Amino acid sequence: MGFCPMVFALGRCKLNYGHTGIIGAMKTPSKGKKVNKAWLHDHINDPYVKLAHREGYRARAAYKLKEIDETFGLIKPGHLVVDLGCTPGAWSQYARRRMSPQGAAVGDLNGTIIGLDLLPMEPIEGVTFIQGDFREAEVLSQLELALAGRQADIVVSDMAPNLSGIASADAARIEYLIELAIEFAQNHMKPHGTLVAKVFHGGSYNDVVQRFKAAFELVKPFKPKASRDRSSETFMVGIGLKLPGGKG
Ligand SMILES: C[S@@+](CC[C@H](N)C(=O)[O-])C[C@H]1O[C@@H](n2cnc3c(N)ncnc32)[C@H](O)[C@@H]1O
Repeated sequence: MGFCPMVFALGRCKLNYGHTGIIGAMKTPSKGKKVNKAWLHDHINDPYVKLAHREGYRARAAYKLKEIDETFGLIKPGHLVVDLGCTPGAWSQYARRRMSPQGAAVGDLNGTIIGLDLLPMEPIEGVTFIQGDFREAEVLSQLELALAGRQADIVVSDMAPNLSGIASADAARIEYLIELAIEFAQNHMKPHGTLVAKVFHGGSYNDVVQRFKAAFELVKPFKPKASRDRSSETFMVGIGLKLPGGKG
């Protein structure tokens, strides 16, 4: 599956079609109650769900970023972290603790976190939140306003579009969000910064890898243990921006 030329020719624009509902559960359950029951059973028995509950994280997703961070040594006190697709807030919570003097969930924060999502988010102390569609130009402007001329050290994106079930359209949507995240990193991240973005195996995976390789010095796909085996998600870690006009 290649890029959807029309989507990319449009660039970032004012979109009217937007998303079509709650995004997050990527796969449309096909067997109704049976699937829901199985999902519920897995969820209740999931060690990461239990751990998240014990440690006060809003979602088990926190452990995906934790493992990525521990593997690549990304988030450090003093950093500016941009969290794209941040709701309900587990990644921002994790980043916040990483940049707190004692790993605290509240109180002093040595660093900056700016989160953005289509959906509302319960406030997290010290985290700036912008509600809006990352694909829209005016939402990007709000994010730029919050950056106030500063460059991010780390950009993380757990954004996932609503799937239609039409493979080519879904692949193009996934790829488009990733493309925008890469573009954002190129414009608003420090040269030695890192972009972590959720990607999916399937239709557009190879194109996404190529996009990352064109933009970053080092590209590492990574599947954290907390990412369920049955999920086709994986995370692309792009370290160090390639200079414009440089090789590659
Ligand atoms: C898997 S959830 C993120 C979970 C989050 N990382 C956490 O730790 O709590 C994906 C999020 O991406 C958001 N999202 C999807 N498309 C988006 C877009 N175009 N603009 C902004 N947010 C988007 C969804 O609303 C959803 O909240």
